[in-house]
Amino acid sequence: MSAADELARLTADPCVVADNVAMKYQVISTEEQTEVPRFGWKILQRFTPRPNTVTVHALNRLSLVVRRGESVGIIGRNGSGKSTLMKLVSGQVRPTGGAIHASSTPIMLGVNAALVPELSGDQNVVLGCLAMGLSRDEIDARFDEIVEVSGLEKSIHLPMKSYSSGMGSRLRFAIAACGNPEILLVDEALNTGDAQFAARSKRRMDELREKAGCVLLVSHSLDTIKDMTGRVVWLDKGDLIMDGNPKDVTKKYMEFTNHLARGNNISAHGLRADVMASLEVANVVNQRGGDRSFTAAG
Ligand SMILES: Nc1ncnc2c1ncn2[C@@H]1O[C@H](COP(=O)(O)OP(=O)(O)OP(=O)(O)O)[C@@H](O)[C@H]1O
Ligand SMILES: [Mg+2]
Repeated sequence: MSAADELARLTADPCVVADNVAMKYQVISTEEQTEVPRFGWKILQRFTPRPNTVTVHALNRLSLVVRRGESVGIIGRNGSGKSTLMKLVSGQVRPTGGAIHASSTPIMLGVNAALVPELSGDQNVVLGCLAMGLSRDEIDARFDEIVEVSGLEKSIHLPMKSYSSGMGSRLRFAIAACGNPEILLVDEALNTGDAQFAARSKRRMDELREKAGCVLLVSHSLDTIKDMTGRVVWLDKGDLIMDGNPKDVTKKYMEFTNHLARGNNISAHGLRADVMASLEVANVVNQRGGDRSFTAAG
């Protein structure tokens, strides 16, 4: 296979496929049940009190295909399902409906990446890299590059608990990106960095994409999303609302939130419904032998 064919094959291949995926959580609510139970049931309940369980629909039936070389931003209001989608892709939680397929194990760079605050930055580099499956030799070979990406040369020997939250985020990003993951998931971890770190992390993410990997980036900062991604997905209340180029999607999302901020709920929801109606949904087709083909939106 020629290099051009190989490149074409890599860039056409999906890295992450969400096939009609849904996520529901059952949670206990302290709110009194509103419906009036039947007479006999009410008496029974008095003797066997049961907590009021409610179902939270974190994601409603969503299909999405992310191809090699793509960097996809995920935006939406609080509680819209962004982190849930990332947790599903990373395998931290199993969907209650549909399935997630990934071409390799995704590396999740979250705000809570498991590093040890009492250990110094350099010790945490080793720890984080070992956790990602790198050998000691590989860690030694990449150590300087990780420190350079983090920009923490001066503080790398100090305990991580003495770092500011932005410094901690920089180190976590540098560690997660060093293993050249094919699929890198970043949930709100880049927001605390300064402009220099933003440029460095963008460069690192571009390098990963050039190696035919893909990046999924959740952020409330629309500037970060526009700077760092080539495609944006807007989620709202568990629904996929829009999937397209960063400029168009962030513009519509801002229009939506501006309506809400001004209290124009009806026009906000009209806009939401209009945008959602023109969404092209990815279609995942099962083929013989477990192979799948995809027609991707976006
Ligand atoms: N472990 C859980 N148990 C119960 N409900 C959950 C759980 N995790 C998330 N949810 C609910 O699922 C919905 C989506 O949450 P999610 O964390 O995915 O939102 P988000 O878009 O990441 O929000 P934010 O912008 O605030 O980070 C919310 O209604 C939330 O309350
Ligand atoms: Mg979140």
